[in-house]
Amino acid sequence: MDINKMKKSTKAVYSEPCKLTGAHVKPIYQTSTFVFDDVNQGAKRFAGEEEGYIYTRLGNPTITDFEKKIALLENGEDAVAFASGMAAVSAAIFAFIKKGDHIVAQNSLYGCTHAFLSEMVTKFGIDVDFVDAKDISNIENAVKENTKIIYIESPSNPAMALTDIKRAAKIAKENDSRLIVDNTFMTPYWQRPLELGADLVLHSATKYIGGHGDVIAGILVGNKEDMSLIRETTQKDIGGILSPFDSWLLLRGLKTLGIRMEKHESNAKKLAEFLEKHPKVDKVYYPGLKSHPQYELAKKQAEGFGAMIAFEVKGGIDAGKTVMNNVKLIKLAVSLGTVDSLIQHPASMTHSPVDREDRLKGGITDGLIRFSVGIEEPEDIINDLDNALNKIKI
Ligand SMILES: Cc1ncc(COP(=O)(O)O)c(C=O)c1O
Repeated sequence: MDINKMKKSTKAVYSEPCKLTGAHVKPIYQTSTFVFDDVNQGAKRFAGEEEGYIYTRLGNPTITDFEKKIALLENGEDAVAFASGMAAVSAAIFAFIKKGDHIVAQNSLYGCTHAFLSEMVTKFGIDVDFVDAKDISNIENAVKENTKIIYIESPSNPAMALTDIKRAAKIAKENDSRLIVDNTFMTPYWQRPLELGADLVLHSATKYIGGHGDVIAGILVGNKEDMSLIRETTQKDIGGILSPFDSWLLLRGLKTLGIRMEKHESNAKKLAEFLEKHPKVDKVYYPGLKSHPQYELAKKQAEGFGAMIAFEVKGGIDAGKTVMNNVKLIKLAVSLGTVDSLIQHPASMTHSPVDREDRLKGGITDGLIRFSVGIEEPEDIINDLDNALNKIKI
């Protein structure tokens, strides 16, 4: 049997029993260190002459199982896990840049990623240009001889802007730089950027990968060489590793990735259509709607549209607050990709670290509402949102 040849849901469900005891679900290797038989063995492990674990910051069997599972799902050679999505973002970027280098990034990104690139990275003598990547020629024109990284989210958080991943990957290849794609919104179930030519994929595993809102985690996927470099540098020496227990929770969450993503998406389609017709709603941004300007690109590069929706209501920010303050089933909370529906206000919450002018350039208006559609029954979500929308007085 070759699990690599199986369908994506089977890959997500599949796990091997414990080789030692036959336990159906493997135990958690909740240990910080590993005992050597003798000094010779310890020395060989440190020298890389013998396989085996040394110390959990350098590797741990439960963490390895999670990394292997994500590599399998993303169709990558290897993966490296981190304590948060932001630990994965920073480890990926710091591993491949040095003073004097240049980064091209999309102008519509998760707030902390934007802040990291514009405020932290630039402190080390690295230039970052933010471009509207919906138009691929903007990436093409921004790339310079010293560009080492092209960084995108597709779809972006929360503006739901897409980048043509294949074309961005081609630009990166021609320029001897790396394309990094944050695939958090789609998961490997709907989109596999490595198959489209990207060099690295990253996730806030806090979201759909875990799926239940009980873990903060991040993961990077790529070729063996890049992953080894990250293990030996930014993972080992900065040290933002994932814990064995959280790896185990993520492995458990992943088993239902397929059915969760299918239900999330079928609900999201219904919700987006409901919102588009609602008299109190001004604009809806969801790549699965024919009215989305990049609907054709979404169909071309992904197998589904996901379950993240952004929308604006008539009456601007005050009307938006009325909606968010009046939902009952849907929870007012940041984060996304949990089995239950979450709503939030990017301008004052997730994207508050971004300068207002930069935020507006990325399409994140003051009145934009982000909605992570859960797997409750769609009628219940629609009723809750309808009640809240009808509280708007215009
Ligand atoms: C698209 C995206 N990337 C990265 C992150 C950062 O992940 P974490 O919160 O796990 O550090 C987030 C968090 O919301 C996100 O939405």
